[in-house]
Amino acid sequence: MPWRGLQLNKHFGSGSAGLGASNIVMNIPFLDLKSQNAALLPEIEPVIKEAILNAAFIGGENVSSFEEEFAAFCDTKFCVGVGSGTDALRLALLACGIKSGDEVITVPNTFVATTEAISQAGGRVVFVDVEPNTYNIDIERMEEKITGRTKAIIPVHLYGQCADMDPIMELARKYDLFVLEDACQAHGALYKGRKAGSLGDIGAFSFYPGKNLGACGEAGAVTTDDPDIAEKIRMLRDHGQSKKYYHEIEGYNGRLDAIQAAILRIKLKKLPDWVNKRRTNAALYNELLNECQAIVIPYEHDWSASAFHLYVVRLKGREIIQKKLLEKGISTGLHYPVPLHLQTAYKFLDHQKGDFPVAETASDEILSLPMYPELTAKQVSFVAESVKDIVTAQVHV
Ligand SMILES: Cc1ncc(COP(=O)(O)O)c(C=O)c1O
Repeated sequence: MPWRGLQLNKHFGSGSAGLGASNIVMNIPFLDLKSQNAALLPEIEPVIKEAILNAAFIGGENVSSFEEEFAAFCDTKFCVGVGSGTDALRLALLACGIKSGDEVITVPNTFVATTEAISQAGGRVVFVDVEPNTYNIDIERMEEKITGRTKAIIPVHLYGQCADMDPIMELARKYDLFVLEDACQAHGALYKGRKAGSLGDIGAFSFYPGKNLGACGEAGAVTTDDPDIAEKIRMLRDHGQSKKYYHEIEGYNGRLDAIQAAILRIKLKKLPDWVNKRRTNAALYNELLNECQAIVIPYEHDWSASAFHLYVVRLKGREIIQKKLLEKGISTGLHYPVPLHLQTAYKFLDHQKGDFPVAETASDEILSLPMYPELTAKQVSFVAESVKDIVTAQVHV
């Protein structure tokens, strides 16, 4: 497993005395796409120019080559490029034959696209609470939610760490259910040495700009080993046609843009190194934050190598801490502040506060710290020391 047992950057060391001093300000954005794009511009500019000069915008060599390369990266037989991660989830469910009244199990602490895809495919969202340590689906609570109408499970690999897929697949085989991995945050994550996107029947990826592999616009992909599902998604993304103007089913306009595919091919080559850098940054955060009792650092199962799309800690008094971090120049995020079962859009599911207590408590206490490959050890140290200083001061108020 290439990303296990990473060493911290020893020459920098773990000590960062003074960096967290209360009057120092260091502007650290939550995400720094500008640096990544600037570094890649010499490679990206020519492919955009070539596409424009050749008027090669839809389908073509870059789309098919990216699909082959991303399938190889994920260790799957097929990859079908689509317009977004939301398209990937929705078209995957449609390809599995989800129809009106079918139930699909997922978690309440995900981005809304997961459940939008279920409803828009005609299914009914059934939530299962999550584990308190990883915030991924709680296998122990899953079987009781399976009914005669359940057709699929969508485990979400939240923050870049895979859900515990072996028991999920076991249950799915027992009850004859499809498993669609929401791998939109998990490009390059490993589960027992196997890649996210190759673990269920289908994997759905987003290449939204801020993702571990991000396009310069909207893009997504579906991965699978099943030739029939791959073929069905190819038709669904392209108005249900297998041949131009011969429509076997009603489909969608859900194709992967050719310029985005060309950019993704360039970025895909960097992805293993970027995941390594994320893991190195996470290891440094862990080392620096672990000693502070009031901060819960991310939990990683020993079978997991998270792709660390996000580095999420848990603490009390989040709003004040966020505000004080901002005063020091540090931007943070919340993923996600309101679980989906308590959102207005899902009132029709008739859930109450208290229905999914683990997800609810987590949503009140989680805080996403800056995390990207370009983040330097000095920046990680400044963030970690600042969080510790602020949290310690809060505890002693
Ligand atoms: C867990 C999860 N699922 C689905 C999506 C949807 O992807 P997209 O924004 O590309 O439609 C995202 C991206 O934001 C996500 O984080």
